[in-house]
Amino acid sequence: MTVRKETEQPNDLARAETELASNAGYTADAEAWSAQWITRPTQNHRDWHVHTLEVRVSLEKDGGAEIWFAVRDVENCRILNLDTADGSVALCEVRGGVRKEAARAYAAELEAAEDKAGEGGSEDGLRQAGPNEAEAVGRRLHEIAARIVMENERVRVYLNGRETLSADLLLPGEAKSEQLHEASFARGSIGFRSGAASAAVFRKLRVFGADGRALYVNRFYDPSALHFGAGSLDPSGNGLRLKPGETALCENPLTVDNPLFRRAFSLPSPPVKARLRVYALGWYELTLNGKRIGDRVLAPANTPYEQRLLFDTYEADELLDLLQSGENVLGAMLGNGYNFNYSRWGWKWKRDKALILQLDLTFADGSAATIGTDESWTWAPGPLLMQDIYDGEIYDARFKPKSWDLPKHSAIAVTDAAATAEDWTPAMLAPAPEGMLEPNAQPPIRAHRPLEPLCAYQPEPGITVYDFGQNIAGWARIEVRGTSGDEVELLYSELIDERGAIDPWTNRNASARDVYVLNGSGTETYEPRFTYHGFRYVQVRTTANLPKIQAVPVHADVRESGSFRSSDPLLEQIQSNIRHSILNNLVSIPTDCCQRDERTPCLMDSAVVEEAAIHNFDMKAYYRKWMNDIVGSDSNPDWSGDRVTLPWHLYRHYGDLDLLREGYPSMKAYIEYASDRWPGFIVTEGFGDWCPPNEDGWDNYFGDPELVNTALYAMQSGVAAEAAEALDYREDAMRFRASADKARAAFHDYFYRGNGVYGKGSQTSQLLPLAFDLVPEEEIAGAVNALVAAIEKAGGHPGTGIYGTRHLLDVLADHGHIDLAYELLTTKEYPGFGWQIAQGATTLWEQWSFKGGMHSHDHAMFGGIGASFYTRIAGIQPLRPGYAKIGIRPYIPAGLEWAEARLDTPAGRICSGWRRKEGHLVLELEIPEGISAEVALPGEAEGFRPHRVNVAADIGTAVAVADQTKSGRKIVEAGAGRHVFNIPINIPNRT
Ligand code: BGC
Repeated sequence: MTVRKETEQPNDLARAETELASNAGYTADAEAWSAQWITRPTQNHRDWHVHTLEVRVSLEKDGGAEIWFAVRDVENCRILNLDTADGSVALCEVRGGVRKEAARAYAAELEAAEDKAGEGGSEDGLRQAGPNEAEAVGRRLHEIAARIVMENERVRVYLNGRETLSADLLLPGEAKSEQLHEASFARGSIGFRSGAASAAVFRKLRVFGADGRALYVNRFYDPSALHFGAGSLDPSGNGLRLKPGETALCENPLTVDNPLFRRAFSLPSPPVKARLRVYALGWYELTLNGKRIGDRVLAPANTPYEQRLLFDTYEADELLDLLQSGENVLGAMLGNGYNFNYSRWGWKWKRDKALILQLDLTFADGSAATIGTDESWTWAPGPLLMQDIYDGEIYDARFKPKSWDLPKHSAIAVTDAAATAEDWTPAMLAPAPEGMLEPNAQPPIRAHRPLEPLCAYQPEPGITVYDFGQNIAGWARIEVRGTSGDEVELLYSELIDERGAIDPWTNRNASARDVYVLNGSGTETYEPRFTYHGFRYVQVRTTANLPKIQAVPVHADVRESGSFRSSDPLLEQIQSNIRHSILNNLVSIPTDCCQRDERTPCLMDSAVVEEAAIHNFDMKAYYRKWMNDIVGSDSNPDWSGDRVTLPWHLYRHYGDLDLLREGYPSMKAYIEYASDRWPGFIVTEGFGDWCPPNEDGWDNYFGDPELVNTALYAMQSGVAAEAAEALDYREDAMRFRASADKARAAFHDYFYRGNGVYGKGSQTSQLLPLAFDLVPEEEIAGAVNALVAAIEKAGGHPGTGIYGTRHLLDVLADHGHIDLAYELLTTKEYPGFGWQIAQGATTLWEQWSFKGGMHSHDHAMFGGIGASFYTRIAGIQPLRPGYAKIGIRPYIPAGLEWAEARLDTPAGRICSGWRRKEGHLVLELEIPEGISAEVALPGEAEGFRPHRVNVAADIGTAVAVADQTKSGRKIVEAGAGRHVFNIPINIPNRT
């Protein structure tokens, strides 16, 4: 720490800092850091003291596979040999290259050559795998979950959960356990071998030490983080694959520990200004004098790490109350966060954990101090024994060094005797990561108001399942009393089975399991911090007394900016499901889902739902960060086109030209990339209308990729032209306009089949050209008829995937079919939102169906239709960016009594609501100060008589009725204020 007085002669950097501190507070976030990156020394894997080793082994043909442990070298190790040819399992010791068998058994698990294809959701792992690879997985014969436990010199082997073999293995020269407990576990690394007859795949490897801490976990998701000397990533995208006869020894494992760092420092007086900046490779949790700093969770943000690292800033109001004169202690705990075990499609860092933190203080006399991470920090292992974004946490409260983050006289001697055997030792400097440190302006992720359980089930003695009534992303918070060493196991799921036990189907390979081990200190409270789960149900197993359990929703703290209400409880529930799914998938990236082993930044999922999100929540700062995250994505228009549409949606809604200017280079780069790649404007690849109603199976999740991507590309070209026009980039505008026109014509030429039909004439192949204005004027009526015919053919159900669904209500409403749109939206039969809700859905599903090979019950991507609730049912649209001029054009479905929306926009709050009353439709509007609205009153064709409108002129500003009619609607101009229109209803049976 440095404490400077103004009278001293600071160096240039220090002077700059002092000036900044005493002038205007800490505003220059990009200001240089004097802190250094730190980490802690890690144990060499050749010295691992393995207690438990778990791995799943798959064999494609009958043959052998081996798990090696206590490996000092290939000539000195222990081996578990699995042989499916004769159904045997053997424990062997290898000393000086000589292999000796210690025990052998025959196991049913190894004999049954069942076809396990498709189990455990391996389908989804095939996301980008070709058909041959899919076949390879389909042929897999054996899946064995092997667990090797070393208790003193006794080694026990469990196969598929059953104890199969045990033997005493004592290495020559190793002491007997009774004499020296420590030495009784063989030390050494691990490895795998496949037999000569079959390739083998090793999955979900977990290695725990004698004290229960995870030494190493590898899910083998990333080809560059396999950490073994041989083998390759299995084509399923999950597993280390060894060719027949291959040996792979662990060579460069990355540690998965959860270290604590601390730094004590002394202050002459309480500071008057304070700011703390922090970034970590790994999630961090900070304390100051034993109290949490701020309330961010799951920080820092996920970004493309090689480009930028977004550090968090804590301001004076989060710090000053925690600081005191005399001794203070800063504490940091690190978790794994988005490390090498995070989704193979996600952005992740693949090196050792590291922390950089800088606390800048200013005192009343103008002097300043800086405390930054450096070698003066110390570290110790923490109470988290294991932690993973998908698998959960194991927190052993007995291992929490009691007063580790409280001030004492010495910085080092803080552990209480019972806490941990380890001493606090100096931290090490770490190399700086590649990306640039930049300030994070995104709304933080926070824990929100907890939910209480609605009811509980007891599927078997000792197990209680709590139902929180709502699918959320987050975790449980518990209060528990018991004795030291008691455990509480929490398992999370979106579904339960008929007995009321949790059904973890949708979690796929995410264990979603938190364990709390009590220290017996009275009432203990616990909630996880470095993991999160997607769930409605929590299953608890404990012998302790659990007086309280709550479910804590965790998501980015985006402010509500809009609300939509209506008279139809089903529509209310759909709106609720949309909003929950959006929030549950907002961490620092918009994720695809929040429960299974994925949670990846999916551009396509985000692209379709962004407009709905923007109408419900203040997404400007949130999406600005995302807009800059995705600049490097070059793929098909369905996936990467978000680079074009996101800046445009933000501009239309928030009216911020600077933001559009910021997003424009990426938008332009994408369109140029696309025009190089598809010069004829026909795109032949992509996901298309992802996840239409289907019979399950990877190929069936795609929906007409060619038509959808070509239509999207044409729309995106038009958007780029409009953006260039808005920014007055004339040359680009001309160029993009010309190519947008060509793309539009190319789409029509290529896909038009006559009689209004595009492509296969499916709902989506009609919807997209109509939505994107790709249909020549004279063909529009025919195209709409073909759309209606496609809907009738599907029995009045949606036949759409995520892109079609986004535009379903818009297109039908705009072309005179709001009633049909409403029927599709609210059908209670499969496929439909109403059907999902009838099955108990409180969030949106990934597929229309209930359970499939790839299925989450909390995907936001079908929620794009939620934008239409505001823009069509309530009818609020920006006629000029940022609602500088408002359009109000409500569509009134026959099945709805009333609907109303409120929208907070940069222009102010806009309200539009209507209800049926005594033969009239009463339309009420609120238009913000200084803004006017063009109101299109529902017309004759829709069953209203707008020419007989009665404007209640006594409330609010008077309304100037314009003498013009557009598409059968009467257009009136409304100024700021509140307006009420009474519009006679023409068709009595529609009331
Ligand atoms: C994700 C989807 C995504 C898809 C396409 C899935 O695993 O969950 O939401 O759009 O992959 O890659």
